Amino acid sequence: MESYDRTYKLLHWGMAMLVVSALALVEFRGWLPNRDMKHEAVFLHIQAGLGVFFLVWVRLFWRATHAAPPILPDPPRIQKIAAGWTHAGLYLLMAALPLFGILALQSKGKEISFLSWTLPVLLDEDKWLSYSLSFRNVHEILGNLLMAAIALHVLAALVHHFHVGDNTLKRMLPFPGRGEPGLELLNTSTKGNLQ
Ligand code: HEM
Repeated sequence: MESYDRTYKLLHWGMAMLVVSALALVEFRGWLPNRDMKHEAVFLHIQAGLGVFFLVWVRLFWRATHAAPPILPDPPRIQKIAAGWTHAGLYLLMAALPLFGILALQSKGKEISFLSWTLPVLLDEDKWLSYSLSFRNVHEILGNLLMAAIALHVLAALVHHFHVGDNTLKRMLPFPGRGEPGLELLNTSTKGNLQ
């Protein structure tokens, strides 16, 4: 097995685009010239965020039922442990962060729709209104943690690719490189011939 399967890659890059869009829409909304556009940016932020919230469960299911291709050459144990924790953190944040967004809005009695489906109400406004700001603050803190985890994740992928020279990043690239044999080939068939 050389590379992640198509579904893995589609979920990885599709969700990466949704997360980056959700962050950009809310972080740069202040640059927009009027209230209507700012409102539209927050609406789109919510749509992208809910997309992440629904897809993360599909992704966890896919991960649990489909083995990831091995990294070649095999990295040291400590690196595998660090990667495991970062990935677990990313999954946790992709589930918890949108959830706190939902709680922040529903505790204020706001209706939330995804595409044209109205989400079930998880909290009763009468009981939870006083927690609305806390949910909003947790949402923002988790958003900042997600940005840090993404930065670490991207940095690790680049170090693996350019410094270590293994196939960590190649396994997840949407299109296999043209004309260039993958490291995995070097480690199986070709390596034997070169020795
Ligand atoms: C990947 C998913 C998401 C990410 C990364 C994310 C990230 C963030 C961040 C960092 C902020 C704080 C921005 C700031 O004030 O500087 C924020 C604000 C907000 N988010 Fe999210 N969020 C996500 C999903 C959601 C979802 C699913 C909802 C609602 C259902 C939501 C609702 C909101 C709202 C209402 C605000 C406040 C906007 C405002 O102050 O006008 N977010 N989000």
